Amino acid sequence: MQAVGVIGAGQMGAGIAQVSAQAGYRVLLTDVDKPRAEAGKAGIARQLDRAVEKGKLDPQVRDQALARIEPIEGVAGMSACGLVIEAATEREEIKRTIFARVGEVLGHQAILASNTSSIPITRLAQASPDPARFIGVHFFNPVPVMGLIEVIRGLATADTTVKTIETYAAALGKQVVHANDAPGFIVNRVLMPMLNEACFALGEGVATIRDIDLACQLGLNHPMGPLTLADFIGLDTCLEITRVLFEGTGDPKFRPAPLLVKYVEAGWYGRKTKRGFYDYSGDTPVPTR
Ligand code: CAA
Repeated sequence: MQAVGVIGAGQMGAGIAQVSAQAGYRVLLTDVDKPRAEAGKAGIARQLDRAVEKGKLDPQVRDQALARIEPIEGVAGMSACGLVIEAATEREEIKRTIFARVGEVLGHQAILASNTSSIPITRLAQASPDPARFIGVHFFNPVPVMGLIEVIRGLATADTTVKTIETYAAALGKQVVHANDAPGFIVNRVLMPMLNEACFALGEGVATIRDIDLACQLGLNHPMGPLTLADFIGLDTCLEITRVLFEGTGDPKFRPAPLLVKYVEAGWYGRKTKRGFYDYSGDTPVPTR
């Protein structure tokens, strides 16, 4: 494949750019402006430096991977990309605007993919230049660590588009699962009710933050407790996806926990705002209840 374009240089976009470059692809990375794309690349450099320090990555391999990532201004430079992955803010109108802009420059064979965790792919495809070459490619955080890509085809997605993504995922060393274009796809359909239930349990006084997390971590052998994971993902994102599940299925079992809604209303989004169920202002996270 030619170069891979990545739109959005935040946590997910930078992760996608990193693993693509490490797999040998040339990567064009963009965000709302060039300094943000450059900041995304600087974050990738820090990740790779850490791997070198731990003796897990050869310095030469780091340098080669970094040299493949080019931060750019806007999307005009993406005309030569065989695959463009959008990992921008999870707001439909933002994504639609991006697809319209990319549509003006994208080649006739190129594939446009969205890393959306919740917006229907068939609907998003309508804003893309060609729904047959549009697909959902859902990565997990932290992208370099997580071995999965959920692939979601819209109603009009062509088989060749799916095949190209399977080849790309294999090059990245990630396993693919195929999900239908249903609310939450697979992982979030299963995960979000658990995180939401942990919020209900906390709100109803079943146990403290520490004990809910420790119970699930040690009792279920999960790497993180559900409240830690919700803070890690972002409580705003968790609420957004839970609402998509609730509204998309009409099933009351997905109704958002009042405590989750309150935290988001308070602007307590988790790690990214240094306050969620834990306080992240110090060296180690401290439970707030
Ligand atoms: N970026 C890159 N690498 C990272 C990283 C990051 N942000 N955070 C940790 N790592 C790496 C570390 O460098 C370390 O690598 P080595 O083993 O090669 O040294 C490895 O991950 C383990 O890290 P730590 O020892 O620091 O910490 P840990 O053992 O507690 O693991 C974790 C951290 C990998 C994040 C682990 O806690 C975990 O897997 N948590 C669950 C994550 C999860 O469920 N993610 C999915 C969220 S849902 C989603 O993303 C989709 C959505 O739509 C919401």
